[in-house]
Amino acid sequence: MADIRFDGKVAIVTGAGGGLGRQHALELARRGAKVVVNDLGGSVDGSGGSSEAAQKVVEEIKAFGGEAIANGSSVTDDTGVANMVKQAMDAWGRIDILIANAGILRDKTLTKMELADFELVMQVHVFGTFKPIKAVWDIMKAQNYGRIVVTTSSSGMYGNFGQSNYGAAKMAVLGLMNTLKLEGAKNDVKINAISPVAATRMTEGLMPPEVLAKLAPEYVTPGVVYLCSEEAPTGAILTAGAGAFALSRIYETEGVYLGEGGLSAEEVRDNWDQITAEAGQKAYFNGGEQGQKFFRKMAGG
Ligand code: NAI
Repeated sequence: MADIRFDGKVAIVTGAGGGLGRQHALELARRGAKVVVNDLGGSVDGSGGSSEAAQKVVEEIKAFGGEAIANGSSVTDDTGVANMVKQAMDAWGRIDILIANAGILRDKTLTKMELADFELVMQVHVFGTFKPIKAVWDIMKAQNYGRIVVTTSSSGMYGNFGQSNYGAAKMAVLGLMNTLKLEGAKNDVKINAISPVAATRMTEGLMPPEVLAKLAPEYVTPGVVYLCSEEAPTGAILTAGAGAFALSRIYETEGVYLGEGGLSAEEVRDNWDQITAEAGQKAYFNGGEQGQKFFRKMAGG
């Protein structure tokens, strides 16, 4: 099959001044995309900021003959996000790809977590994913083409000690994806999620250096590039790191129909083994499929 190319395509990558986002931006540009490199340039906990980080990546792209523009806005700032989209439209007249990658951490156990730590993390990951998507959505729909990648995490899908704020935010972006994959389908706007594992400043100190050495962001980017391509699926959660790739899914068991017994907590307890049995479990593509199963079971199917 032909190489994946993005000639004539325009991409916005948020949080692309370092870590994973930088790598995604470089690779899209190497493959022909024109890229808006967004980064607030703050610290890992979301404080501070400067447009230098984004500008540096733009210079790297220009150095190999690529086209790129820097944007130093916060993804949480309405005016900044509008400007970021305007920059792309003014320069190149379309937006084909959005990678919502910007992120911060405020790790604390719930006992120590202040409301502000929860709110800021929700702001950056949830609103900072929603706002850029909202800003490019109608452009993509009008073009009848768009590829969006949101960035989730195993912390959200499975849990991680000290990350209740981050975990909640990372699941929220999957909820957003699950609905938008349906709303975008008619206009060939596809949306997927990447769940990365990579050595960046975010994971510094969390793992020994010899492990981090094998986790370069370069091993995640190929998965993201595929999700940005014309052949991309929609609604997939691709996990990637260290050269391994897999799909995460939410499965629902076939379950059991208890009839009138369904009015009794004891019946639920007594049928727990059948409720949780894995045989016949399925991953649904939309919420309505769950209701259909209930009706099928009620009808004896
Ligand atoms: P990083 O800290 O190197 O990159 C995040 C970038 O986002 C930084 O350059 C930062 O300046 C930028 N940023 C933060 N707040 C912003 C805002 N309000 N507006 C614009 N830019 C902002 O960390 P890394 O690891 O590259 O993270 C990238 C994404 O991957 C994040 O969403 C993170 O949650 C996610 N992730 C990373 C994992 C890993 O193993 N490194 C694991 C799971 C998810």
